[in-house]
Amino acid sequence: MPHEDVPLKEFAARRRKLLTALKRSAALVFAGPAPSDHDTPFRPHPHFEYLTGLVDEPDAVLRLDPTHPVESRRVMLFLRPLNPEVEKWDGYRDAIGSDLRERLGIQSIFRLPMLGRFLNDSAQRTRSLACLHPLAQYDQPISPDLELYRKVAERVPGVSIEDRSDLLTDLRCVKSKAEIDQIQHAVDITADGFQNVLTNVRPGMREYEVQDLLEHTYRSHGSRRTAFQTIAGSGINSTVLHYRDNDGVVEDGDLICIDSGAVWNGYAADVTRTIPASGTFTDRQREVYELVLKAQEAAIKAITPGARMNEIDQAARAVITKAGYGDAFIHSIGHHLGLETHDPAPDAPLKAGAVLTIEPGVYLPDEAIGVRIEDDVVVTKQGCRNLSRNIPKTVREIEQAMKR
Ligand code: GLY
Ligand code: MN
Ligand code: MN
Repeated sequence: MPHEDVPLKEFAARRRKLLTALKRSAALVFAGPAPSDHDTPFRPHPHFEYLTGLVDEPDAVLRLDPTHPVESRRVMLFLRPLNPEVEKWDGYRDAIGSDLRERLGIQSIFRLPMLGRFLNDSAQRTRSLACLHPLAQYDQPISPDLELYRKVAERVPGVSIEDRSDLLTDLRCVKSKAEIDQIQHAVDITADGFQNVLTNVRPGMREYEVQDLLEHTYRSHGSRRTAFQTIAGSGINSTVLHYRDNDGVVEDGDLICIDSGAVWNGYAADVTRTIPASGTFTDRQREVYELVLKAQEAAIKAITPGARMNEIDQAARAVITKAGYGDAFIHSIGHHLGLETHDPAPDAPLKAGAVLTIEPGVYLPDEAIGVRIEDDVVVTKQGCRNLSRNIPKTVREIEQAMKR
């Protein structure tokens, strides 16, 4: 069923915006297939989730047809047929009726075997089908909409296929108030996780115990999954960007680079803090830490509607390069955040409502010092608002929060 806390009328408004942007072209958005094994949870394609809030209907398809003569048929949802025998194994599903229509806020709901007929009707009337899914690389499977449209175009003469893969990227990039509220809640849960670490981390723990301090807190607040695999890297592991093992022993004197985020109603948080295992930074650790913090502050200051990500990157990079550590800042400044941890975004100036991570880092493996500081910010008319500002970040705040 649709996400709680995001009103159904908001999903309807997103679909209406998309219908307007499509002009006369018809289009499909696919939820995507269920994983072939039972251990991997199903997640719909985020475009589908954005437009419907539905997260438990593999194979579902949304058809958009802005010029359909019957208004209630401009949006149609197609679901897998019911199968009582399969449902005894996998869970019971709803019959199509007024209950389901009301719960989804979609008037026209059919079963998938009807899709072909309705799609042919759209193709004959509009002669134009729009690709909304990201276009695939040559060595990847063709995107599901293009694959299906090619079959339709072979059967209905004169149908053209348009690339409108920019549309949903543009819409998703500017977050509504309800979306920002979901991200803020995910960040607030993440903040409690970090607080638990600051209070309870001790030298001698395994890195996965640090991970548990975060993730136990997320679950206890009702967040059912993390946005990505938590990174808890101590000592030399703090310098490994995508460290996954989390099985090392946290030694006294280590820095621990912790990158983690809870999910709330589908929306991700993505926060990094780097902390001293002992509760106190060494002079050298503090020196590197203050540099990264200064770079992060410069980047945050550069955020304004109209700025480009590369300008914000440059603001941080200039600080780190000037101090002689340019080669140790080996990734870019950040990314958009939303239903995906790395949310898609156009290569264009930022707009108010975009949510970004700002995450400079300096990695010095020879000294076992890796420092990354990552906040989640929303671009506002005036500049930006830091959604993760309550998580201790300055040397003083961190040492204070870790006082035993
Ligand atoms: N944890 C993923 C990232 O920071 O981009
Ligand atoms: Mn991160
Ligand atoms: Mn990030």
